[in-house]
Amino acid sequence: MLSYQHSYHAGGPADVHKHLVLAELLTLLTQKPRGISYLETHAGRGLYDLASDDSLKTGEAYEGIKALTLPDCPLAKTLANIRKQYGENAYPGSPMIARNILREQDMLHLMELHPVEYRHLRQNLMGDGVSLHKRDGYEGVFAITPPKPRKGLVLIDPSYEIKTEYAQVAEFTHRMMAKWPEATVMIWYPLLEAARHLELIEGLKLPFIKHEVGFDLKDGQGMTGSGLILVNAPYRSDEILQRVESQSAAILRPLG
Ligand SMILES: C[S@@+](CC[C@H](N)C(=O)[O-])C[C@H]1O[C@@H](n2cnc3c(N)ncnc32)[C@H](O)[C@@H]1O
Repeated sequence: MLSYQHSYHAGGPADVHKHLVLAELLTLLTQKPRGISYLETHAGRGLYDLASDDSLKTGEAYEGIKALTLPDCPLAKTLANIRKQYGENAYPGSPMIARNILREQDMLHLMELHPVEYRHLRQNLMGDGVSLHKRDGYEGVFAITPPKPRKGLVLIDPSYEIKTEYAQVAEFTHRMMAKWPEATVMIWYPLLEAARHLELIEGLKLPFIKHEVGFDLKDGQGMTGSGLILVNAPYRSDEILQRVESQSAAILRPLG
């Protein structure tokens, strides 16, 4: 168990899809002075080296962020900050993107179970306003819900190594939203030939917005695209999704 390593996929087309939307959403949620909470069930290590052996082995970043010239947008600003600080081959994971956009009055709660990934996450993200947990993401986020500040976003970004995880995500989202009904939730899922994500979508039984994109990876291992679900999407999220489609048109095919 826990054999998935995100370093092989960092900066690939699926990451770019997820991170463009995440950066736009966090920018929108931080327009008002009131603080927000940002929670992640599956944080990863927070910072990746696109020149590492893992990254070069799949080459996914070359079909993702390295194949894209981003216009001025929240992810482009974050990337510029990260590259300035860590070098041209650095790529931020979702926790680092969030920390770049969030402010003093906001809180981050990050869960990561893998011991090595957690150790890196601590090195990369430890600081004021960041609470790090080496624990199961579903159990951990449920335990601290509803957080303070009460307005906020939960990112659910599992590796789906176990087939039952699609149903688990739907069940968890229900249970967590019963405790924190005003949460905005963003769920990432892969589009596979086996279409396992339908189990997640059918199990959700909540109003949501869905956004899917297609891509052709040289070694996609059956992954044909990337999907995002937004529950309690903020007003004007549809504009965000349209902007993301034009920002990423060189590498992602909108599927609706
Ligand atoms: C897809 S990666 C996360 C990527 C990250 N959200 C990003 O966008 O940069 C999934 C992570 O979940 C971790 N993980 C797997 N099962 C977990 C669990 N039950 N609870 C918390 N973390 C888990 C893995 O070790 C891996 O680092």
